[in-house]
Amino acid sequence: MTKQIVVTGATGTIGRRVVEGLLAKQVPVVALVRDAAKAPQGTRAAVGTFEDRGSLERAFAGADTVVLITAANANAAEQTLAAIDAAKAANVRKIVRISALKAAPDGPTDNTRQHGRTEAALKASGLTYVILRPHYFLQNLLGSIPTIKGEGKLYWGVGDGKMGMVDTRDVADAAVVAALTDKFDGGTYELTGPASIDYNAVAAAVGRGLGRDVTYVPVPPEAAGEALRGYGADDWTVRLIRDYCTAYSKGFGDFTTGDVERITGRAPRSVDDFVREVLAPAVR
Ligand SMILES: NC(=O)c1ccc[n+]([C@@H]2O[C@H](COP(=O)([O-])OP(=O)(O)OC[C@H]3O[C@@H](n4cnc5c(N)ncnc54)[C@H](OP(=O)(O)O)[C@@H]3O)[C@@H](O)[C@H]2O)c1
Repeated sequence: MTKQIVVTGATGTIGRRVVEGLLAKQVPVVALVRDAAKAPQGTRAAVGTFEDRGSLERAFAGADTVVLITAANANAAEQTLAAIDAAKAANVRKIVRISALKAAPDGPTDNTRQHGRTEAALKASGLTYVILRPHYFLQNLLGSIPTIKGEGKLYWGVGDGKMGMVDTRDVADAAVVAALTDKFDGGTYELTGPASIDYNAVAAAVGRGLGRDVTYVPVPPEAAGEALRGYGADDWTVRLIRDYCTAYSKGFGDFTTGDVERITGRAPRSVDDFVREVLAPAVR
């Protein structure tokens, strides 16, 4: 019998594609969703939240594996610890965890530190696990479409820091493989793109893909954080962006690994692939 897999964060950037990848392989998927109407097509919706422990145990009951994705927020560690406990109580065998690059309890951002704490808890839980630590998402660039389109400018706060940015499609594809095989069990993988590049190179790639000039305009990390407040970001998120930008401008993200290829069997998508296949169609 095919093993049942639960995907949390199933309506989000990574989760949506993980669901699609599993369904394409005829794997039965339960989607943990806060709103049943948003459950991805083809899944069985389990309505619940990370704050409602009973809903987690009900969602996880009968599942072999949970692909555990939480949103970046001030309470992510508590949410994750609740999900790990519920998975144990429901006799889940394995968790594939979407973490974040260089997760560590003493990392430079609260997100890094929360993922560091929860990775340690998962390792200590006795559950089989695979930890996937994505680098900065290329898809974050979609938030800059208004200024790319309106001004031909890409504002961001990472100075000339280089980053091995990753396409979320590769992250999701790796999660699907990690969920369906035991080959990567017990491992921690840093998922990056094929090259570590600065934002001038990112802007050049965006310009190439759109057939117009696009220039990177560096702003202070504080300004990058504050700019998001205008889009409804809370204080925690504003600080998070400031702290990530500060770390990236000092080289925190300047690395690549072969882990996407190790897991998926093919090279990670480049910034040019992302611009051609995702950003340019969204701009037009
Ligand atoms: N952005 C980056 O560059 C980056 C890089 C590395 C790692 N990461 C990590 O990636 C993860 C986020 O993944 P993502 O971008 O795919 O997520 P996302 O698009 O922000 O989606 C978040 C998902 O979590 C669900 N959710 C939010 N609060 C919930 C709650 N209280 N109970 C149950 N479900 C809840 C949302 O459901 P609704 O539809 O109901 O809102 C949604 O499905 C974070 O752990 C972050 O640290 C991000």
